[in-house]
Amino acid sequence: MRYLLLGATGDLARKKILPALARLATADTELEVVASSRRPWGDAEYGAFVRPALVAAGVAEPDAFLARVRYAPADHTEPASLKALAREVAPQSLIHLSIQPSAYAPIIEALGETGALGHEGVKLLIEKPFGRDEASARALDALITRYLPEERLYRIDHYLGKESVRALEGALAGEALTGVSVTLAETLDAQGRGAFYDETGVIRDVVQNHALEVLAASLAEGAGPEARLAALEKLSLAGPLETGVRLGQYQGYRETPGVAPDSKTPTAVELALSYASAAGPIPVTIYAGKALAEARQELVAETPPGPRAFSLAGDHAYDRLIREAAEGDRTHFPSLAEVLAAWQLLDPVLAPPTPSLAIYEPGSDF
Ligand SMILES: NC(=O)c1ccc[n+]([C@@H]2O[C@H](COP(=O)([O-])OP(=O)(O)OC[C@H]3O[C@@H](n4cnc5c(N)ncnc54)[C@H](OP(=O)(O)O)[C@@H]3O)[C@@H](O)[C@H]2O)c1
Repeated sequence: MRYLLLGATGDLARKKILPALARLATADTELEVVASSRRPWGDAEYGAFVRPALVAAGVAEPDAFLARVRYAPADHTEPASLKALAREVAPQSLIHLSIQPSAYAPIIEALGETGALGHEGVKLLIEKPFGRDEASARALDALITRYLPEERLYRIDHYLGKESVRALEGALAGEALTGVSVTLAETLDAQGRGAFYDETGVIRDVVQNHALEVLAASLAEGAGPEARLAALEKLSLAGPLETGVRLGQYQGYRETPGVAPDSKTPTAVELALSYASAAGPIPVTIYAGKALAEARQELVAETPPGPRAFSLAGDHAYDRLIREAAEGDRTHFPSLAEVLAAWQLLDPVLAPPTPSLAIYEPGSDF
C-alpha cells in the first residue's frame, strides 16, 4: 500500500495516524508512506519529530517503520508544489487529508489539478468535520466530486473505528428504551489548539459527527451507512432551542492563544433530542465539552429494569479504518447523506441567533 499523508506534522498525524500505519506496516510489508506538510525538513528531522509520539503509542520498532517513511515538504495549496508528490503515489494509493478543515477547499482543488485523484486506484480519506453546516458540506462535496467519485471518498469519523462502538452497532434496535444519553466529556481544555477550536466549537467538534454517529450506529437496524442514515432521520430537536439546548464556555477560554477575545464559541453543550421509535418518541440527551469535571465517554440506555452503560473508550480506531479503506470496505465511513442529515439536525442550533452562553468554571460539571 502507498500512503500519502498530508498534514504530516499535525497532532492527529503524529499521535494517531502514524502509530496506526506503523502497526499496519508489520503485516503489510509493501506499505510505503510519503509524509508531507510545509515544514522544510528532511527525513532525519521528521523522524526525530515523530519518533517520541510513536514510542508513546507503543510502537515496538519505530526506526524500522521510519525507514519506510519519506518526508517531502510541500505547500498543499499549490498544485506545482504537490505535483511531484502526486506523481509518486499514482496510480494506486491512499491519500489522507489530515489538515485543518478551513484549508480543505484550496488543497482539494490543488490536488485535483495535479490529476492525482483521477486514477481509479486512488482513494481519498478526509478528516471530520465535513463542512461547517449543510450548505458548506454540499459545496465541499461538489468540489471533491469534480475530481473523484463518492465511491473513492472515505470520510473519517474515528468513533466508527472503535471496537467499543462496533460492539454497540444495532444493540439498541428493538429495545424497550425509555431514554438514551451520550456523554463525550473531556477534562482537557483547548490549550495548544485555540485557533482550530475557536473556528470549530463543541457542536462541530464532537456532536455533529461522533455523538450523532454513535447514536445512529447503536439505534440502527444493522450496520452500514444506510442503516445509520435511517436512524439519524428519526432524530429531531426535542423542543424549542431556549429549553432544549444549553451552551457553555469555560472561564478563561478567551485568553487561550488563537482564540478571539470576544469569542462566542461554545466549549460545552447539553442537547435534548427525540428519537421516533416504532413504540413512540424516546428522549435522547447529548452532553459534551472541554474542561469539564470528569473525562467520560459513554452511552447510557434507559431500559427496564434499569440503565445500561456502554463505554465508548478504546483505541486503534485508525488501524481498522485505514485497513478497511485500503480494502474498499465503506461500511464504517459516513456517507454524504449521513453527514447532511446530521447538519440538517444541528444547523438550527448553530445558526444565529445562537442560544446564550453560560460561563462555567474549568473543571466543573457545567
Ligand atoms: N487532533 C485530533 O485528535 C483530531 C481528532 C479527530 C480529527 N481531527 C481532524 O484532523 C485534522 C487535523 O487535525 P490536527 O489536530 O492534526 O491539526 P493540526 O495539528 O493543526 O495539523 C495540521 C497539519 O496541516 C499542515 N498544513 C496546514 N496547512 C498546510 C498547507 N497549506 N500545506 C501543507 N501542510 C499544511 C500543518 O503542517 P505545517 O504547519 O507544518 O505545514 C499540520 O501538519 C482536522 O481536520 C481535525 O478536525 C483531529
